[in-house]
Amino acid sequence: MTLLVLGAGGQVGREVLELASEKGVAAIGLTRADLDITDGAAVHAALAQHRPSLVVNAAALTNVDQAEADPARAFHVNRDGPAHLAAAAAARGLPLLHLSTDYVFGGERPGAWREDDPTEPVNVYGHSKLAGEEAVRAATERHVILRSSWIFGPFGRNFFDTILRQAARAPELRIVADQRNCPTPGRDLAAAILHVAEHLAAGRPGFGTYHYCGVGAVTRLGFAEGVLSVAFRPYLPLLRPVPATAYPSAAPRPANTVLDCAKFATTFGLAPRPWRAGVALAVERWRGQGN
Ligand SMILES: NC(=O)c1ccc[n+]([C@@H]2O[C@H](COP(=O)([O-])OP(=O)(O)OC[C@H]3O[C@@H](n4cnc5c(N)ncnc54)[C@H](OP(=O)(O)O)[C@@H]3O)[C@@H](O)[C@H]2O)c1
Repeated sequence: MTLLVLGAGGQVGREVLELASEKGVAAIGLTRADLDITDGAAVHAALAQHRPSLVVNAAALTNVDQAEADPARAFHVNRDGPAHLAAAAAARGLPLLHLSTDYVFGGERPGAWREDDPTEPVNVYGHSKLAGEEAVRAATERHVILRSSWIFGPFGRNFFDTILRQAARAPELRIVADQRNCPTPGRDLAAAILHVAEHLAAGRPGFGTYHYCGVGAVTRLGFAEGVLSVAFRPYLPLLRPVPATAYPSAAPRPANTVLDCAKFATTFGLAPRPWRAGVALAVERWRGQGN
């Protein structure tokens, strides 16, 4: 089995490549500088050159406010890129594992979202990612679309990184307490991706759309408490709950995008673990990055 990982410079791409290396799984990583997935001819050429047995697409435009400001770019990267990858994978008979997001859901209802619940994105990022999912499904049946949420870990700029940095400077933080979600350790997601790759490489059935996130729904405030209580024990900064409207942003965010991961666990025989179980290692690895 040889994986070709697109978006190799991003947080999920880096997690997958690091874990693959530790486990001795052959994986080739391509950053945006190596391959722009919006260039269809280059995508076909890359698959012909590297001859992988499975393609993992972790490349995307993920800055939600940037997507809101530049919808054409968001759709070009998040819809047209996956369309090229899916077409090239189909032409070579390869499976495609494509990352997607909880933001395909509207979030205006309680409870956990299942894979076949109606999608209703509230922002351009969500619409562009949903269009990417549809492009993948249209181009190849041999796909696994994995929707995840609030991925955290040592790589890149994300909410996890932001609160750790701010908590080191400020005695009090104001954190949004009306957006609910399931955080996902990036390393656990990488393990899930490698698990699915091995499952498909063994010829076992499993193509389709799945949810994978950490167990335990929290608000951003609850997530911050969970991370900081590990990283800054016993000197936890004071955390004040604020509504999302306290931080005006270009793009609206859905209020509840908790994902139901039962289908993933049943199909692949791997149940996600509580996100809190991944915090200590993520903090340790974050510090290991020189933070
Ligand atoms: N982060 C989360 O909390 C979260 C939650 C749910 C789902 N997801 C999904 O998980 C996947 C991976 O996200 P992530 O957190 O790893 O994002 P990320 O850290 O922003 O990484 C995305 C990578 O894609 C690259 N990229 C952007 N445009 C590209 C293009 N045209 N061609 C090739 N590469 C390109 C980026 O390169 P540059 O930096 O050079 O632009 C970046 O390295 C995405 O599909 C995302 O929608 C993420």
